[in-house]
Amino acid sequence: EFHRDPKHVSFSFDSPFGKYDQAQLQRGFQVFKEVCSACHSLKFVAFRDLKGIGYNEAEIKAIAKQWAIKTPDVDPKTGEMSTRDPIPADYFPKPFANNVAAAAANNNAIPPDLSLMTKARHHGSAYVYSLLTGFQAQPAELLKEFPDAKTPAGLHYNPYFANLNLAMAPPLTADGQVTYGDGTKATVDQMSQDVAAFLTWTAEPKLENRRRAGLATIFFLLIATGLAYMAYQNIWADKK
Ligand code: HEM
Repeated sequence: EFHRDPKHVSFSFDSPFGKYDQAQLQRGFQVFKEVCSACHSLKFVAFRDLKGIGYNEAEIKAIAKQWAIKTPDVDPKTGEMSTRDPIPADYFPKPFANNVAAAAANNNAIPPDLSLMTKARHHGSAYVYSLLTGFQAQPAELLKEFPDAKTPAGLHYNPYFANLNLAMAPPLTADGQVTYGDGTKATVDQMSQDVAAFLTWTAEPKLENRRRAGLATIFFLLIATGLAYMAYQNIWADKK
């Protein structure tokens, strides 16, 4: 068995009382914006949703300006699709014109949308982190046992990926690949954790509300149980 379960990595939001670390979500967004968004879409996230990780309206407008939205009409002079500036209500645009173009640029594999990736994979947050930090040479035992499993040209071995060989080249390869505004050292490990945290937020922006509602429900049920028990005792008090 050469496929591995995700690494053990701890996040601020792990426990039922855990919360997102807003500074980390912003760092993770920066990694997504500067690295992953070259190939991956985030089709369920609108620019204005970034309010949820602490950006204000002016910041959101400035962020949106870094993208262009394709419009259905074609520029008659160039034959290209026209574009317009995004508004905060627009969703993050896809990096490729269509799946054919996406596959052509990526060794025939289409980079999947990342909005719900941490939900689509088992232990998704740890999985994304493990995948990003898990590229390595193929172990000799694997090749000895399964010579046909040799990584084909253009693919990359990663024991955390179910197929073992994937079409994505390691996207985070050097410390300092992004420069964090909050002074955090951008090691490959740190960037991987941060973008995994950000992608956990895109998949479940209301995680904290859900947990708060759950805890309030349990608290209410405990009190209701106590009251019901006391009422029961009171009602039967004189029946011996
Ligand atoms: C697949 C994350 C950057 C191209 C994936 C998958 C994840 C991921 C989670 C899915 C693996 C699965 O299906 O379980 C990221 C992150 C990035 C990043 C977090 C930034 C840090 C890039 C870049 C490119 C790229 C820059 C293109 C140059 C692809 C391709 C696949 C893929 C082609 C499909 C692989 C296959 O099915 O064999 N990525 N990615 N990714 N990614 Fe990325």
